[in-house]
Amino acid sequence: MKFSAFALLRPGYEGHYKSGKIPLHPVYCLIGIFAMKAAIETMMIEHYDAVRRLWGESEGIGLSSADNKTSTERFLNRNSGLSFIAAMDDAIAGAILCGENSRRGSIHHLAVAQKFRQNGIGTALVNRSIIALRKRGIKKCHLFVFMTNTALSFWQKTGWRERFELILLSRDLI
Ligand SMILES: CC(C)(COP(=O)(O)OP(=O)(O)OC[C@H]1O[C@@H](n2cnc3c(N)ncnc32)[C@H](O)[C@@H]1OP(=O)(O)O)[C@@H](O)C(=O)NCCC(=O)NCCS
Repeated sequence: MKFSAFALLRPGYEGHYKSGKIPLHPVYCLIGIFAMKAAIETMMIEHYDAVRRLWGESEGIGLSSADNKTSTERFLNRNSGLSFIAAMDDAIAGAILCGENSRRGSIHHLAVAQKFRQNGIGTALVNRSIIALRKRGIKKCHLFVFMTNTALSFWQKTGWRERFELILLSRDLI
């Protein structure tokens, strides 16, 4: 996790400005920290339009009719308190959709807006969903990654492992 010491003084702060991108002078660090503060909040249906826009702009996110507003509201209601957004002032910098079926957790559509990436926001969002799943007694979580998605490295760096012994099968039900 990439928290700065200053960040610990700020309740709700969960991202930081990666030190390599700004000069390491304390004044610049403080400017960076205050400029890049991200608060992780529970995703509500009111966030849908901004989150849907973020997903649409993010490479590696596969969208379908299951992502329309009605379906997303149903998902959030069935899985309340498991999905989160990263709020940066008035903007949504990142989002994660997470559910559980009482056996396993599932993560979908993690995305961080391009200009806010590499600041720990993606990790912070995943961690919040994991904590929420654990509180419900869920002991394992799965997610899908397109084979061409370079974000696979993100997942591997943050403790997820590929399941080479499994094959994903799907069937349309309509
Ligand atoms: C994947 C994504 C959510 C990561 O968000 P982020 O806020 O930049 O991630 P973090 O800053 O928490 O990164 C954590 C670590 O993963 C690394 N990482 C992040 N994205 C990476 C990528 N695409 N490739 C390789 N490494 C990556 C970071 O460098 C960091 O490593 P470090 O601790 O050694 O510096 C973001 O790149 C994104 O939105 N991608 C497009 C959508 C997508 O593909 N989502 C996943 C769908 S399965």
